Amino acid sequence: MTTLPPADTLHSQRILILDFGSQYTMLIARRIREQRVYCEIWPCHKSLAEIRAFAPAGIVLSGGPSSVYDPDAPVAPEVWRLGVPVLGICYGMQAMAHALGGRVAPGKTREYGPAQIALEPGSDQLFAGFDRDQPQPVWMSHGDCVAVMPPGFDVIARSEDGLLAAMADTEKRLYGLQFHPEVVHTPRGVELLHNFVVGICGCHQTWTMAGFVNASVQAIRAQVGPEGRVLCGLSGGVDSSVTAALLHRAIGDRLTCVFVDNGLLRKDEGDDVRTIFGDGMQLPLITAEAGPEFLGALAGITDPEQKRKIIGRTFIEVFEKVTHEAGHFDFLAQGTLYPDVIESVSFKGPSATIKSHHNVGGLPDRMRMKLVEPLRELFKDEVRVLGRELGLPSSLVDRQPFPGPGLAVRILGEVTAEGVTLLQNADAIVREELDAWPGRLGLWQYFAVLLPIRSVGVMGDSRTYECTAVLRAVTSVDGMTADWADLPRPVLSRISSRIINEVRGINRVVYDISSKPPATIEWE
Ligand code: XMP
Repeated sequence: MTTLPPADTLHSQRILILDFGSQYTMLIARRIREQRVYCEIWPCHKSLAEIRAFAPAGIVLSGGPSSVYDPDAPVAPEVWRLGVPVLGICYGMQAMAHALGGRVAPGKTREYGPAQIALEPGSDQLFAGFDRDQPQPVWMSHGDCVAVMPPGFDVIARSEDGLLAAMADTEKRLYGLQFHPEVVHTPRGVELLHNFVVGICGCHQTWTMAGFVNASVQAIRAQVGPEGRVLCGLSGGVDSSVTAALLHRAIGDRLTCVFVDNGLLRKDEGDDVRTIFGDGMQLPLITAEAGPEFLGALAGITDPEQKRKIIGRTFIEVFEKVTHEAGHFDFLAQGTLYPDVIESVSFKGPSATIKSHHNVGGLPDRMRMKLVEPLRELFKDEVRVLGRELGLPSSLVDRQPFPGPGLAVRILGEVTAEGVTLLQNADAIVREELDAWPGRLGLWQYFAVLLPIRSVGVMGDSRTYECTAVLRAVTSVDGMTADWADLPRPVLSRISSRIINEVRGINRVVYDISSKPPATIEWE
């Protein structure tokens, strides 16, 4: 884990989140960072000595799926001995209560969903700015509850049925919440976290992307040295684009970017990369027009996993070939993000691999170069802010997620040049129509899929026998689960008629009304 020394102001006052396996742990971190306070997530089994050395200004204990009485229940290190404020959320509060001499008991019913809580005396620090006479809506998700508080604690909020919803030992600055302040369903949860990190822990709000650019430019220069040359693979995606822009700011022409155009990108995407980075930023850019190579390797292939493997392998071959010709490089840049480096804790065992999500997988090992990973500390939303800070256009920075294997996994069956063109044109219409709506109607992803079936239609006086396009539009928080979007009928209707009228070769559009799970967002 890259932890900068406390001397650096950007990270000097930081919060440590100990993860007990909650599905919301990352949200806690994102909400705290939104308060411009740096935080890290560590697994709950870290030692007290390691935590002390990190010198956090405060500690948050996350929720988790266990009960404190489970034989293998995770135990919190004794963080209350450090003298810094501690906030336990759900299981984190129960683990703290249990360890400090309170009693946790199974609730009579599992409380799940929206609830109202009433604030009690003693709540004014954590709930600063809240009206004590008003019930507060919160989101509960728990089975156990704290039946007896540890010595020194007071109840500072109760739920409607009189159960403990929040407790505090204000002298020792230890706090517990039975509900989840980090989820959007607790409308004022962000204020609560602000009160904890800024009000109680006293953190200065120094974590800004402008500050990050300065610190990062210095760190990159120090790592790469005055002569070092860096190679960066550009995919047209947000992470590699921001990585390239940041490196360019730090080391100028000693960065060379390689863009492998696999011919499977969305309409105009390849041109955007060339225009923004080549013409606009004027950074050394090598482009490999490898569409025919990829299509050749995919000929006759219909199995989704095989397609992914072939694309991964072809990418590495092309990348190696063009970089070999470009001379010697000391470093390979990678757009690794913070969620990729968090040591995960799982109390339910590893989840099965549904799809192999390899994009540039295997490249670093093969190239035997040292890595530069300037985004290692950032969440995706921070990367977008950083991209804007670096002057990248919204078309790049606010791009919706796009799979590494590109349109190949949105063309079911064999991928052909004709299929790619049909899908690019249909997909461009979907994006044009939905991009025009404010906030893009709150959608997470929206795109077209091409099916390998034909059906009969009629156009004018003629019979048609053409392809079917699927419109996929989903809402989601992180892509792990998703709901099909209830798009307004006029929007559906406009997209359908535009595709059928404008894209020769598609005579039918269907709308995918499957949620994830059990379906997935992509069709392959
Ligand atoms: P699924 O289809 O698994 O997708 O529900 C979840 C999210 O991951 C994206 N996705 C990929 N991203 N390489 C990627 O970088 C891939 O191979 C890949 N497959 C799916 C998908 O677009 C969605 O956002």
